[in-house]
Amino acid sequence: MMSEIPVKKKRQCQPGPPLPANPEDHVCFPGVVLCLVEKRMGASRRAFLTALARRKGFCVEGANRSSLLYLPSERVTHVVSEGNSGEEVVEWMKRNGSRSVGAAGSGPALLDLSWFTESMSAGQPVEIKARHCLTVTVHEETLQGRCQVAAYACQRHTPLAHKNQQLTGALEAMAEESLFCGSEGRSLAFSRAASVLKSLPWTVRSLKDLSSLPGIGEHSRRIIQEVLEDGASAEVENVRQSERYQTMKHFTKIFGVGVKTAGRWYQEGLRTISDLQAHHAKLNNAQQAGLLHYRDLNSPVTCSEAEAIVQVVQKAVEQFLHGASVMLTGGFRRGKQTGHDVDLLITHPTEGQEVGLLSKVISWLDSQGFLLYHSTYRNTLQALEDEELSVSAATMDRFDRCFSIFRLSSMTWEHDCELNGSGGAHCRKAVRVDLVVTPYSQFPFALLGWTGSKNFERDLRRFCKREKKMVLNSHTLYHTEKKIFLSAASEEEIFQHLGLDFIPPEQRNA
Ligand code: CTP
Ligand code: MN
Ligand code: MN
Repeated sequence: MMSEIPVKKKRQCQPGPPLPANPEDHVCFPGVVLCLVEKRMGASRRAFLTALARRKGFCVEGANRSSLLYLPSERVTHVVSEGNSGEEVVEWMKRNGSRSVGAAGSGPALLDLSWFTESMSAGQPVEIKARHCLTVTVHEETLQGRCQVAAYACQRHTPLAHKNQQLTGALEAMAEESLFCGSEGRSLAFSRAASVLKSLPWTVRSLKDLSSLPGIGEHSRRIIQEVLEDGASAEVENVRQSERYQTMKHFTKIFGVGVKTAGRWYQEGLRTISDLQAHHAKLNNAQQAGLLHYRDLNSPVTCSEAEAIVQVVQKAVEQFLHGASVMLTGGFRRGKQTGHDVDLLITHPTEGQEVGLLSKVISWLDSQGFLLYHSTYRNTLQALEDEELSVSAATMDRFDRCFSIFRLSSMTWEHDCELNGSGGAHCRKAVRVDLVVTPYSQFPFALLGWTGSKNFERDLRRFCKREKKMVLNSHTLYHTEKKIFLSAASEEEIFQHLGLDFIPPEQRNA
């Protein structure tokens, strides 16, 4: 039951990871590092037991659910669980990216709660007896860390850096090429296969390795086989070399240009940006801005540039609505060091206060010379009936939002300018910024929806629909059979509604 879970009601996501209570405080047993398994125990009980153990001088890892310490690390010596079998705990650890579960005798001890309770009463770690231990039947597969990979990206941990770059690069080129050809289904299949490989804590070395993996279709398998056997796939290399692929890539990198426009230009024989100019290709406002700032918009946005933009927007927002917050989301929230844009969510803890904020903010930014381009969309959600909302809950968000291009100048960006050694006045860069204003009650949904990755979001929505008879979007979660909206005060609560283990943002790089 949701009501039993204590929830932090204040703004749950300040930029940067929240600081956990220092786990090293008063550690009396330095050789012992505990990890409490949340599955079946529940978040609130886990938090309670963690606090108890820490008061008694035990070091407990990963107590703060939203912190980076969530994963069981290699330091853990004792894994404590309640009501789970040994196999379930091993499975849980694997899914959480732990590689320390090995052959019998290696890795941490897998223990029942009874060991924990006895240790707490004794005020020290008690000797591990057979009755405390969870038994695991070790299969060969488990030993290799190759037990089942979950079917949906929202059930898997997918870190930024993974072990199958070459294969995922090849599959993603095919996914892109399929999009360029208008084959969305085919593109999705390649993306899904790549996404599965990104989640593996091991490197695929032979076709046999694929047998335990979901979502690898026949064509993907063929590509993988070519890469494994020849070091590269001839099919992928042909695509990469092809004039059409390269031109389509070139054109779709223009802000405002999609596959359709790029394809038309290609059909008309256009190949380069100069061709567009020479042939007076018809461009809308977004595309004109995109062309004008092509170079800047295609050079990666750095963390410090993103931070500078957060500061500017925060300042603008503060002026019109005291207490409003600006949150950096998108790829940066997933831990990426660079991005193609900056995604910002704006909200205010008093629902309704945020209405009308975006247009004021945009006007001010514009008057201060911060905007090179902007196009805003009004919130149309209020006009929809609940039923209609659940049906149209497909992909399009209906927040007040603005797609913009910022001009980052030496004023906003001094630090990097100095680093680059460029003269202050000439130090300017165009940066794509997405601004979204959300009512406070929808903030967790917007945060989950805008954090990405796209594959993660797609699978999350697919999982809801297929497995849970629910519809999730960046506003709400709707149960189509019970015909009710499920509210949530945090991302964690949304995962709980869906019966999913919480996946921290830095593990959503599917
Ligand atoms: N998004 C959305 N509606 C859009 C555009 C994007 O809901 N019209 C969501 C996407 O689902 C994605 C997130 O916003 O999860 C971020 O999208 P985007 O900025 O395109 O990608 P990033 O993951 O941030 O990658 P990058 O670093 O390249 O910006
Ligand atoms: Mn982004
Ligand atoms: Mn974006």
